[in-house]
Amino acid sequence: MSEQTGETPWWHGAVLYQVYVRSWRDTDGDGYGDLRGVIEGLDHLSWLGVDGVWLSPTMPSPDDDWGYDVSDYRGVHPELGSLDDLDELVEAAGRRAMRVLLDLVPNHTSSRHEWFIEARGSRDALHRDFYVWADPAPGGGPPNNWLDHTGEAAWTFDEATGQYYLHNFLPSQPDLNWWNPEVHAALREVLDFWLDRGVAGFRIDVAHGLYKDARLRDDPPAVEGDRRGRYGLLPVYSSHRPDVHGVYRDWRALVGRRAPPALLLGETWVLELAELATFYGRGDELQLAFNFPFVFAEFTATALRSVVGETFARLADTACPIWMASNHDISRFATRWCQGDDARTRLAMTVLTTLPGTVVLYYGDEIGMTDVDVPAELQRDAMSRQGRSDRFSRDRARTPMQWEPDANGGFAPAGVQPWLPVGDSAARSVAAQRRDPHSLLALTQHLLRLRRLELGGAIAAYSELPAGRDQWVYRSGRLVVAANLSDHQAQVAGVARCVVLSSDPERDVTEGAGDVLDLGAWEAVVTCDVDPLLHASGSGAGTLPSGTEGSISPRTPVGKEN
Ligand code: NOJ
Repeated sequence: MSEQTGETPWWHGAVLYQVYVRSWRDTDGDGYGDLRGVIEGLDHLSWLGVDGVWLSPTMPSPDDDWGYDVSDYRGVHPELGSLDDLDELVEAAGRRAMRVLLDLVPNHTSSRHEWFIEARGSRDALHRDFYVWADPAPGGGPPNNWLDHTGEAAWTFDEATGQYYLHNFLPSQPDLNWWNPEVHAALREVLDFWLDRGVAGFRIDVAHGLYKDARLRDDPPAVEGDRRGRYGLLPVYSSHRPDVHGVYRDWRALVGRRAPPALLLGETWVLELAELATFYGRGDELQLAFNFPFVFAEFTATALRSVVGETFARLADTACPIWMASNHDISRFATRWCQGDDARTRLAMTVLTTLPGTVVLYYGDEIGMTDVDVPAELQRDAMSRQGRSDRFSRDRARTPMQWEPDANGGFAPAGVQPWLPVGDSAARSVAAQRRDPHSLLALTQHLLRLRRLELGGAIAAYSELPAGRDQWVYRSGRLVVAANLSDHQAQVAGVARCVVLSSDPERDVTEGAGDVLDLGAWEAVVTCDVDPLLHASGSGAGTLPSGTEGSISPRTPVGKEN
């Protein structure tokens, strides 16, 4: 139940969709996606069955890290549009029963933010303490051994004032000093500013990292094989400090004063589920926290069973888990988990969207977009550019949305060169998959409709059923899902009577399930005792719903006051 209204939070059982704005749809022909493009794409999301849209950074920025280096927390990047466009987008989404979340970056600003420009002016500057400054080590050089995300020293010397400043990311992204109460006050105002404009909440960047050790102790060396290690160090002092929980208790009270309460969704980049659980607090911190142990699990029945089971075991019953498998920092799941194979991708989509909790899809997941090879000379991401570090080039997962099967994927007006190369839009595009009732897009729409009917508005109960080593069978609310993560046929028992859908377009779903269900290689089947789709709309089992806009009534009204 939510803080004030006593209603179930709208994100329970919901589907959020991450729009990487620069790559979604370019309406002004500059090669970058923009907010008007997001507005144009809303009908697609509404048709698909999305409840909320998370926009990648929209605030003004010099774009050293494509918006994750904010130079003004209260504006809109001119390349993406204007404040009016953002207001219009929130309203247009609301009319389609969708909420809008902004990306909030509280760990650092751009070095071109007016606070930092002022702060580096002198040691007595008004905003000096907004950032983390330290004297050189006794023998000279950086104050300690901390490394930034490129593997270089996390400290840059500021000649003018003779001190180092801290940056956990690029040197042009100075970290804010969360030991300073004025930083808390300033960011609280930022939250209120956007909530007053009608946004429904925030995805919080680097949610685990705001605080640093007050004594600036060296990070210890990482033990071989410890997944938390980064460039040979365990970042337990430069990040991951427990003091951050106070911020989220404070923000939770702040967002709880809105009706309905606004949503705080943390980018909690932690690899232990026990640590992940701490971000939900006692129901008084983040309402949603990204589950990276799930994201980075191997795509095997054993690994998924284990991480999903442990997630439910670790989280309180009232804590809503998140299932997400692609984003703008990592390889897309169609590549990372599925090597571009259709059957695996369809199975992955089926399990992702039938787990209890909240699902977050990344743009293009619904058509099976894969990573795109971006030649070194066309790479745009400074943090992961080849040669700079051994990281995965994030550009591979940020290429333009493939709307149409043409040269620039229908992303930009003809003749315009998109900011990143377009993937194989002839093989995968929204337009072609809309015409094909057996496409992944059609399957995804079907799954989201089923999800809304069966799992929407709640955190349904999850339990695992016995199955062979390569099969994963689970009950999710009234659904029983059987997935065969192997190259061989398999049989499972214990599923429900009625086959609602299969990830395999060839299966005759009208046949129903007997005591034993045969599964094809890389097939997932969703079963239920009563076919929910048949029940809800009169359409036959396994047939595709009409899916026209407005055919699904919103669970709760959405408006600008939200
Ligand atoms: C996490 C964001 O997802 C990533 O894209 C960014 O580079 C870092 N945080 C720094 O803001």
